[in-house]
Amino acid sequence: MEEGGRGRTYGDRARNCRHSKEMREVTMSDEIRATTGDSTWFVQDRLGMFIHWGLYALPARHEWIRNYEEISNEDYEKYFQHFDPDLYDPDRWAELAAGAGMKYFVITTKHHEGFCLWDSKLTDYKAPNTPAGRDLLGPMVQAFRAQGLRVGFYHSLIDWHHPDFTIDEVHPLRNHPDRKKLNEPRDIRKYTEYLHGQVRELLSEYGKVDVMWFDFSYPPGRRGFPPPPWEGKGREDWQSAELLKLVRSLQPGILLNDRLDLTDDPAGWDIRTPEQITPRAWVTFDGQRVVWESCQTFSGSWGYHRDEESWKSTEMLVQMLIDTVSKGGNLLLNVGPTGRGEFDYRAVERLEGMGEWMRQHSRSIYGCTAAPEEFKVPRDCRFTYNPETRRLYLHLFAWPCKMIELEGMAGKIEYAQLLNDASEIQMQVSESSADHFDAPPAESLTLTLPVKKPNATVPVVELYLK
Ligand code: GLC
Repeated sequence: MEEGGRGRTYGDRARNCRHSKEMREVTMSDEIRATTGDSTWFVQDRLGMFIHWGLYALPARHEWIRNYEEISNEDYEKYFQHFDPDLYDPDRWAELAAGAGMKYFVITTKHHEGFCLWDSKLTDYKAPNTPAGRDLLGPMVQAFRAQGLRVGFYHSLIDWHHPDFTIDEVHPLRNHPDRKKLNEPRDIRKYTEYLHGQVRELLSEYGKVDVMWFDFSYPPGRRGFPPPPWEGKGREDWQSAELLKLVRSLQPGILLNDRLDLTDDPAGWDIRTPEQITPRAWVTFDGQRVVWESCQTFSGSWGYHRDEESWKSTEMLVQMLIDTVSKGGNLLLNVGPTGRGEFDYRAVERLEGMGEWMRQHSRSIYGCTAAPEEFKVPRDCRFTYNPETRRLYLHLFAWPCKMIELEGMAGKIEYAQLLNDASEIQMQVSESSADHFDAPPAESLTLTLPVKKPNATVPVVELYLK
């Protein structure tokens, strides 16, 4: 973290490095919105693990089950009584994350259900009071750090268990016949105090925290939410401005997401966090490119969901990562551990598959970003670009027959190889000849590819720029 609290972005990196002049031209670095927190590591590391773990692992029907099934505190209590993750092994979790090439993790310290994974002094609704009998967060933080991963805390602004959290439109008791009456003794200010107190604990007791990930705001009448009398919550309820000060003062370098309902405050957020979507292009805010992270699930739920079957294939996940980096973003990929404390076997399969690809191809991910616009992306492909090594990575989502043409690239490439085995890819300036039924686009370079797709989930050609 620099003095003055401004994190560095590509701009500074480009200015400080050897090829600074060329690089500033090609990265368009100065267009990226500066962050208050430190984003230098973030835009290098590119891949993180999200973990949603709480009592909802037991019903195993989605982490929003309390909302979906309108479950009261009393009826939800059975999960608190039976939460016993006897197979919980944070070292194994951390190994799986590191093995998949993940460089940071974000854990749900508390989700909307209100249950806390750590030994908070401010509530009894916490892991040490379940059959788990202990703080589950500390060992996790330690294990992931030991594997070299950075630490992020997801913390729910919403709390469906707290007695002072007023019943609003997304609360499990929203359709309760006595909703109004039940709300009378509730005092949202007391809840806010609790919220701030817990954030203070989290950011003081676990050493350096790299990411703070609040979730979420739904202010009535703003940002597409219905106007009052529809009841939602936003910055007034969370006292977001105060919370922001607290976060920045306790952890000055921390990188903050964008869900405190403070998007109009330049220091109110660092990263944009599109959820379950693949953005069309580099994410912008007020016309300016921003540091961004897409969060995605392996299947259709964040929390462990036994019967959910829409699991994405390893190939799809690898493509998702590449596509994200090709647009200058990060991917935060979610795992929902079971009630016994293990990663779902379907998640393990995919993590291992991604790890196998990353082992040979992480060079096209770490330290990479969108390629300069002058390079035209061939059909079914994605480019990523490393501005420091000046290498361009051509990812082939569909394997073409014997050759691929790179428009406008004649004379620009010094050497080309397949990334999985460093075998040379021969290239020549494309010519119109009798063999060509179509005239090649101007100044094209033809790469000669093996007929057989290489043994890689997504093959990559590494192009050394001249
Ligand atoms: C949503 C959901 C939630 C999940 C989160 C991840 O806002 O409320 O269940 O934790 O997105 O981005």
